[in-house]
Amino acid sequence: MAQPLYVFDAYGTLFDVHAAIARHRAAAGPDADRFSETWRQKQLEYTWTLSLAGRYADFWTLTARALDFAFARYPSVDRALRAPLLDAYFTLAAFPDAKAALARLKAAGHHTAILSNGSPAMLAAAVANSQLDGVLDAVLSVDVLRFYKPRAEVYALVTAHFSCAPGEVMFVSSNRWDVMGAVAFGFRGIWVNRAGNPDEYADCAPLRTIADLSALPG
Ligand code: LAC
Repeated sequence: MAQPLYVFDAYGTLFDVHAAIARHRAAAGPDADRFSETWRQKQLEYTWTLSLAGRYADFWTLTARALDFAFARYPSVDRALRAPLLDAYFTLAAFPDAKAALARLKAAGHHTAILSNGSPAMLAAAVANSQLDGVLDAVLSVDVLRFYKPRAEVYALVTAHFSCAPGEVMFVSSNRWDVMGAVAFGFRGIWVNRAGNPDEYADCAPLRTIADLSALPG
């Protein structure tokens, strides 16, 4: 492959995990942001704990379980929002810079793909909702493996699909732990540090750190 292949994490990188609460912020009340943070944190925690325990439930199931934890943790948030929040998460909005970045990469001759924990159905719905179909060559889900990132086998889905070497892949994620897993596998990492977080995993450093996707391809 002459040009590097750009592979993106989905949730938090192309799709805004807090877009669901944003649609219902007024109804959710003063705990809305803490509620959304807890929802996301538990969703990720369940992927790690289940993978370590050798168990699997798909990412949609874990998203719903994490939401139920958040409702229990923040009783001020009305449980009538459960269905509307899950609906919003299923067709989660992309960040405003996502489609243009993918289009620029395609125009420059790169292949593009998603590699995500998301279930195939939720990824297809989010991609279609943001009209990203035309700017992606592949959407790869961990679901075929039945365990989650950052297991090395997950990143190997990319090299198997594109018949390429790990060093030909630029892996873009806003999740620093996901960049760690990708770099450990041999990808070149780009960390999208939208939140201005401190760096971690110094022994698996990204090639570049960018503030948002407008910096791509760079
Ligand atoms: C994903 C999670 C990490 O999309 O957000 O894979």
